[in-house]
Amino acid sequence: MFAKKSEGSTGAPRTSGALPPSKYRMGGKHFKNDKAFIRTAVRDVKRLESYAGLTVDSRLLDWGCGAGRLAVGVREHLGRIADYHGVDVQPELVDWASENLAAPGFRFTCVDVSNERYNPDGTPERTLAAGPGSVDVLYAYSVFSHMNDEDTSAYLGLIREALAPGGKAFVTCFVEEDVPGWEENPEGYGPLEWKGRLHCTRFARWHWEDHVNAARLAVDRFEYGRETDGQSLYVLRVR
Ligand SMILES: C[S@@+](CC[C@H](N)C(=O)[O-])C[C@H]1O[C@@H](n2cnc3c(N)ncnc32)[C@H](O)[C@@H]1O
Repeated sequence: MFAKKSEGSTGAPRTSGALPPSKYRMGGKHFKNDKAFIRTAVRDVKRLESYAGLTVDSRLLDWGCGAGRLAVGVREHLGRIADYHGVDVQPELVDWASENLAAPGFRFTCVDVSNERYNPDGTPERTLAAGPGSVDVLYAYSVFSHMNDEDTSAYLGLIREALAPGGKAFVTCFVEEDVPGWEENPEGYGPLEWKGRLHCTRFARWHWEDHVNAARLAVDRFEYGRETDGQSLYVLRVR
């Protein structure tokens, strides 16, 4: 699907196509460096393979895709896929991805739904832009880390609906023991000074897992605190 990777003579990273410009890269300082951007994307595709059963035949929903970091990982590591669908609320990022990363098997959709940080004027109706049972693997990296509590429980329900039997969701979020159920920009928490709406949203572990259970999902894997800025990783399965 994509041309063979080339390595720049100046030590530029191996890549078989375009990378989003720095201004469109989400995730603070973490993904500004090209090599780190590609490395983390490929790392996550490999984890989707081993934790969630991703293959070239999968239907993969990258919910909160930004400018398509994971699509770059799929392109670099797998080369092709049955369906990669990136969905985000920020039109300029989705436009860039559609113009530069769309290819057979790779598509992007902008949804005008509300998120107080990224799309405050969006509609209150929620959607994943995916039909029931149409997703084998869902990826949501650093999305629930910027989400209010009501949206969180509603979107977990939509994730459950969108997953095919046997499907899995790979999501990251801030969870801690012994903290309030949901909190916005907790003071003195993590490596940054949180500023502005939903910069950091943190859950008590019991509260987050209550949402997971209420959505008829189950925890398949939990890894504490090793993702961006100290987020935890959950792999969720349909139950
Ligand atoms: C911190 S960024 C992470 C981007 C990408 N997942 C990555 O790891 O590079 C969070 C993304 O979630 C998107 N987002 C937030 N709420 C959303 C929603 N309700 N539907 C779709 N995307 C959403 C934001 O626009 C933003 O691009």
